[in-house]
Amino acid sequence: MVIPQHVAIILDGNGRWAKSKGMPRNYGHVRGAKNLEVICRDAYNMGIKYLTVYLFSTENWKRSPEEVASLMKLFRSYTKTCIKTARENNMKVRVLGDPTALAQDLQDSLTQLAESSKENTGLNFQLAINYGSRDEIIRAIRRLAEDYKEGKLLKEDITEEKFSGYLDTAGIPDPDLLIRTSGELRLSNYLMWQLAYTEFYFTEVPWPAFTKNELQKAIDKYNSRERRYGGVKEE
Ligand code: IPE
Ligand code: IPE
Ligand code: MG
Repeated sequence: MVIPQHVAIILDGNGRWAKSKGMPRNYGHVRGAKNLEVICRDAYNMGIKYLTVYLFSTENWKRSPEEVASLMKLFRSYTKTCIKTARENNMKVRVLGDPTALAQDLQDSLTQLAESSKENTGLNFQLAINYGSRDEIIRAIRRLAEDYKEGKLLKEDITEEKFSGYLDTAGIPDPDLLIRTSGELRLSNYLMWQLAYTEFYFTEVPWPAFTKNELQKAIDKYNSRERRYGGVKEE
């Protein structure tokens, strides 16, 4: 059994899960956040080294002001809890996305989370908040253009590897496995550069109901795939 080094998850379906229980969407988000803590531990115990989760997209601002406000409130409490769990579980947490649109206190907590956990050597845990792949690429190009202008970089120096270093995921290996819960078959602006050769796994199970057993199923499926990277398998 090969355990993927890096698993990325689009945790989707909180709202539909809550609705199916006759509950408000926010209840689904709260239970989804709780489940993330459980899956984090399970993933690490299974041997996964990097876990990257999509918490809020650059498009999610289009949701109702009430839903955005309750999500932000949830991120505040989740971040505070995560500072503790990162310490207890030796997790190194990084934040992907553009934090500048978030409230200052949330930005501060996220910075504190990343700072306080940066020496930890267990699970590498990436939180994508106000993250969009196109936005990430544009921000990377702006930084690159700045370095070019200042003469720190020649046109010939711009390689795939160099460019990767300007992304929010600099230094993090590309995902081996992408999981999207709750039945939608799209990327929704997630890690488009990084997922170039990632195996995709889609499940109908909504995020709050996604268990260790479901994660194991995704890994089993991953193991049945033949990864080629453009080559062919040797006879
Ligand atoms: C995923 O669940 C969480 C976020 C996008 C913040 P959704 O809120 O998208 O739930 P559905 O897809 O509407 O059921
Ligand atoms: C993607 O889910 C974003 C997150 C999981 C944070 P959405 O539920 O927002 O995606 P769409 O709108 O259905 O594509
Ligand atoms: Mg959704």
